[in-house]
Amino acid sequence: MDQERVRGKFFAFEGIDGSGKSTQAALLAGRLRESGVRCYGTMEPTGGPVGTLIRQFLSGRMKADNRVIASLFAADRLDHLLNEVNGIKAKIEDGIAVVTDRYYFSSYAYHSVDVPMDWVITLNEQSSQILRPDLTVFIDVAPDVALERIAKNRFHQELFETKSRLVKVRENYMRAFERLGDVEKVAVVDGNQGQEAVAEEIWRIVKGLG
Ligand code: TYD
Repeated sequence: MDQERVRGKFFAFEGIDGSGKSTQAALLAGRLRESGVRCYGTMEPTGGPVGTLIRQFLSGRMKADNRVIASLFAADRLDHLLNEVNGIKAKIEDGIAVVTDRYYFSSYAYHSVDVPMDWVITLNEQSSQILRPDLTVFIDVAPDVALERIAKNRFHQELFETKSRLVKVRENYMRAFERLGDVEKVAVVDGNQGQEAVAEEIWRIVKGLG
């Protein structure tokens, strides 16, 4: 691994719920550190004030119009980038590589089930202007496989985890990748293979980054 190549790079992991993206994000962060790369692992929704509020909506304890929830995610993302304690923009500027479990493509895919994708993209324009990932890794799994994994691992299903919804979310991801193909660098990785095979494929892609 040429450490200079990944210095201050920004990696975003995306996928439907149950795709294994959180595991893969953690594996990449671990591997970067083992190679001597300074690396910060993080996720959205965040553990900050807006992210904490979002969890209340995801669990169904609080309710609001989908446009309100989409706006909260956009606000949480700006806080994720800019907050003074651990904002990721400053980390990148310090030369620290950042691996995030979800970023704005999650918003494009999940919220455009209910509202037009263009609106969601515009809503997140500040974030895309402040920090565009050097690479977005999409872990692609069949919605059936994802739901099986969710059922095994969790007691309750959150707001977005019904099959028809996951099918739509996956389609929306594909639509967003096509729509933004000119400006975004996206790698679609087959997540139906075993965990180690997926991790190897991602590592090869990351090592090959220019
Ligand atoms: P997830 O990473 O799956 O959290 P957990 O591991 O706790 O299930 O994210 C939680 C949910 O939030 C997931 O269903 C996707 C949704 N989400 C959005 O709807 N919009 C967004 O912008 C983001 C980041 C997530």
